[in-house]
Amino acid sequence: MSVIKSEDDIQSMREAGAVANTVLREVAAFVEPGRMTRELDEFAAERIALYGCKSAFLGYRNYPCNICISVNEEVVHGIAGDRRLLFGDVVSLDVGVRYGGFVGDNALTVAVGGCGVEEQSLLDVTEQSLLAGISKAVDGNRVCDISRAVQECVEHNGMAVVREFVGHGVGRAVHEEPQIPNFYEGGKSPRLKAGMTLAIEPMVNLGSPLVEVLADRWTVVTRDGRRSAHFEHTVLVTENEPEILTCPENMPSALKARLLN
Ligand code: MF3
Ligand code: CO
Repeated sequence: MSVIKSEDDIQSMREAGAVANTVLREVAAFVEPGRMTRELDEFAAERIALYGCKSAFLGYRNYPCNICISVNEEVVHGIAGDRRLLFGDVVSLDVGVRYGGFVGDNALTVAVGGCGVEEQSLLDVTEQSLLAGISKAVDGNRVCDISRAVQECVEHNGMAVVREFVGHGVGRAVHEEPQIPNFYEGGKSPRLKAGMTLAIEPMVNLGSPLVEVLADRWTVVTRDGRRSAHFEHTVLVTENEPEILTCPENMPSALKARLLN
């Protein structure tokens, strides 16, 4: 069963979400040609610790890194290492933090320095599809309303959604019910209720939707080697407008002095 959060739980999730989004933005701003993915992971670990948080991913099912860093044809769950980012790469960053007992989970994809028109369109469409999905996260709708909105946006733009990995409920645990596919194949799906908190996360490929997992047992890559993008927010279902919990506005005031700049 999906967990319905109390008002106190929701306030904690706003704070976890604010830290998760702040760290995500800080790491994105730290991306530049020549950096090793390991440096990004170490930088993320420092920032997460500075805000008094813990990575929600490190050690989860033995995941070995603080954040997920996935470059080019890597879709999600990439493992940081000595790979250096090159001008024109696209890098997906997925940051989950735990704060006050709750998890904030979010992701985005950025170009390293710059990228081509097709790659920029991939990033734009993936983010747009996330926003289309979020707009359906309203009490009384069903999970499939989110799925269909994401899929329509992506396929209308001639791109493909990944099917093997899906969004999810999130709260005290990284993964809670329900699962939130980015595609719809008919059938009934769970009803959304005010107080549910969902991680909506389209993974979009320029070419074929098919993916596989590398021998490291984590890194998901496209089968055709073409590029992929990933955007994610943690969202609160309400009776009116969905509320994005992974936004910087709700940074706990005690932590504001630690912000960069
Ligand atoms: N946002 C991703 C997810 O929801 C990140 C999980 S990485 C893991 O699946 F290491 F925690 F599995
Ligand atoms: Co997630």
